[in-house]
Amino acid sequence: MFQSSDRVKVGRNGPCPCGSGKKFKKCCMDKDLYDFESMRNLYYKQYKIQLKESKDIEKLRRVGKLVIDTLDMVEKKIHAGMKTDEINTLVHDYTISHSAIPAPLNYRGFPKSVCVSINEVICHGIPGERFLVDGDIVNVDVTSILDGYYADASKTYLVGEAGQDALKIVSVARECLKKGIKKVQPGNTLGDIGWAIQSYAEKQRCSVVREFVGHGVGFDFHEAPQVPHYGQKGNGIKLVPGMVFTIEPMINLGRKDLRILPDKWTAVTRDNSLSAQFEQTILVTENGCESLTPYEL
Ligand code: MF3
Ligand code: CO
Ligand code: CO
Repeated sequence: MFQSSDRVKVGRNGPCPCGSGKKFKKCCMDKDLYDFESMRNLYYKQYKIQLKESKDIEKLRRVGKLVIDTLDMVEKKIHAGMKTDEINTLVHDYTISHSAIPAPLNYRGFPKSVCVSINEVICHGIPGERFLVDGDIVNVDVTSILDGYYADASKTYLVGEAGQDALKIVSVARECLKKGIKKVQPGNTLGDIGWAIQSYAEKQRCSVVREFVGHGVGFDFHEAPQVPHYGQKGNGIKLVPGMVFTIEPMINLGRKDLRILPDKWTAVTRDNSLSAQFEQTILVTENGCESLTPYEL
């Protein structure tokens, strides 16, 4: 999702957003243990984050499984000589035939059912007449709605024989998602996730895209909070059980800067260097986390 600044500030000395009437610092600010209901109210009032409960999580596991099954289906069929629009048809038909809705279709005017982003395309590539060729790297980003619930995941595939640069950027992007997910546990913060991703990417002399971030997901396509793939340890919102958000680092082989093509969607690296991305939908649990769109990284 596109990054925007919609943060709500709660002062230490201001009234606690839980509605107790006490000062925030004397009430919920430092408490570690709450029951789910007060935590839900606090996170909604303070951050507009909608925590998910058991009945939601069961539905999210189902839509998450469908998204992964869709990616697996595409992975088996992807080949050089195929048009990106054929990937769109595969995803669209598979989704509909499983009683689900492809979330991208008509989302803010997006014209297709899936994002397909090749080589220097960072994200939001629109499927069309482009043929896949040997050596391409192709991100396929699937978001489905099943029974009113959303799950969002993507993978970057190598087409045919991959070059060294392609292998490198795909492997760094995959490892970035893995390192981000490892930080997801109650008590850690969004900054811990961003820091883990940024420090690894930059150590590998790659760069992290800033304009697009992970996002809360589940009841809607893009919910609070924003999940930057860069940042500092300990900064940002504390993770609590019931939070569901994507982590979806976009990693460039060259510089981090991007431009948007005249179609108003396709984001490409300004220096035309390769870009890769992996995305999963992650639930914060009592003990750590669970991927609702699990695949091996
Ligand atoms: N799936 C993308 C994400 O990870 C969003 C795509 S929006 C669309 O957040 F309109 F391009 F589909
Ligand atoms: Co997403
Ligand atoms: Co996505």
